[in-house]
Amino acid sequence: MAKLGHEVVGIDVDPRKIENLSTSRAPFYEPGLEHLLEEVLQTGRLRFTTDISEAKGNSVHFICVGTPQKKGENAADLTYVDAVATGLLPFLSPGDLVVGKSTVPVGTASRLAHLINLEHPSAHLIWNPEFLREGHAVADTLRPDRFVYGVSDGSEDNPAVAVLDDVYAVPLQAGTPRLVTDHATAELVKAAANSFLATKISFINAMAEVCEASGADVTGLADAIGLDDRIGRKFLNAGIGFGGGCLPKDIRAFMARAGELGADQALTFLREVDAINMRRRSRVVELARNLCDDSLLGQQVTVLGAAFKPESDDVRDSPALSIAAQLQLHGAVVTVTDPKALPNAARRFPELQYEECTRKALEGADMVLLLTEWQEYCDLDPYEIAGLVGAPRMLDGRNVFDPNKWRAAGWTYRGLGRP
Ligand code: UDX
Repeated sequence: MAKLGHEVVGIDVDPRKIENLSTSRAPFYEPGLEHLLEEVLQTGRLRFTTDISEAKGNSVHFICVGTPQKKGENAADLTYVDAVATGLLPFLSPGDLVVGKSTVPVGTASRLAHLINLEHPSAHLIWNPEFLREGHAVADTLRPDRFVYGVSDGSEDNPAVAVLDDVYAVPLQAGTPRLVTDHATAELVKAAANSFLATKISFINAMAEVCEASGADVTGLADAIGLDDRIGRKFLNAGIGFGGGCLPKDIRAFMARAGELGADQALTFLREVDAINMRRRSRVVELARNLCDDSLLGQQVTVLGAAFKPESDDVRDSPALSIAAQLQLHGAVVTVTDPKALPNAARRFPELQYEECTRKALEGADMVLLLTEWQEYCDLDPYEIAGLVGAPRMLDGRNVFDPNKWRAAGWTYRGLGRP
């Protein structure tokens, strides 16, 4: 927002985050973010505080807090969203705009609009879902694919629309499409988009299972069906499945909400999407055992990658770490390496061993698993690292390597859904 030219105050309850952000240190790894922070902090248009009363006098208020999965349930935890909406109430002025970015169950926006309008009848609430991807957050924010505005009456003429158009003037003028709809549709756009993406990944992983049973190759299959424009090649990479702080919990929260609305039958397929996804993790463990002559006991295993995807240090619901932990439970001695995510990984899975240096992590390994496709792992030379490991066995959980090249270099290579 500050880069787009606005005066911005960022508010959080965590004083450490605020202190770090104020000195352009991001609380997580995201390419380009610290550089951008430095640039805008110098302009004086951005500052950070823990004091929510500093929202007073500003005319647009963004709610950007998380909606994690509730413990032991599928539903989303709305504690933080509700706390921000309620916390803002004393500091809103007539005509202010509140913009919801968080991913919420359908019905939340109308409930919050009601709550806000009880005290501030002239204030507006727009639900404006966030579609950014981790690892691409800066680019996705400055130039998104589209804007979706959910307004109370679903009308382009709603006065709140022009206010948000001013906020997004730069990307709108650059041609970013913008759709105006009602609160419920805007909330559902986000749930539907993430469900579609998750379904696409589980679809190709289901095909990988059939390929494994029939000796076919899922990568060639994905290339061929992906050339059909109606299907498209993106999000058709079979492998260890999806993780992270969004897709897994969003499809579960969506099913839970549909259940509350009496529409659970419409989303039973998402249960299957989730099940196929979780099955990938057990399949990798099974393949790993096969590769090690049916026993992982005492095997020295190196896992390349801990983050749920490359260019991120996020390990929330990371399939890589979940597989590493399962291998260890089967008796393997597991060493995990990752360019950015090791501190987060060690906090979540203290029982695993971690090594920062890739070469050291590979030394003497009886088996290597590539589980997060960081570029530096994709660039590994099979001839060179064959000399480091104890036994050249590669389980490629993301199907990024050329099997022929690895086999020619003396490796026993296994991909997922590949012969
Ligand atoms: C996702 C959505 O893409 C984004 O629009 C939304 O705002 C938040 O959730 P993100 O969680 O950052 O973004 O990651 P994404 O790039 O979607 O990847 C999610 C998971 O799917 C990762 O674990 C990734 O490795 C996996 N994936 C992705 C596959 O297994 N195969 C693919 O073909 C693509």
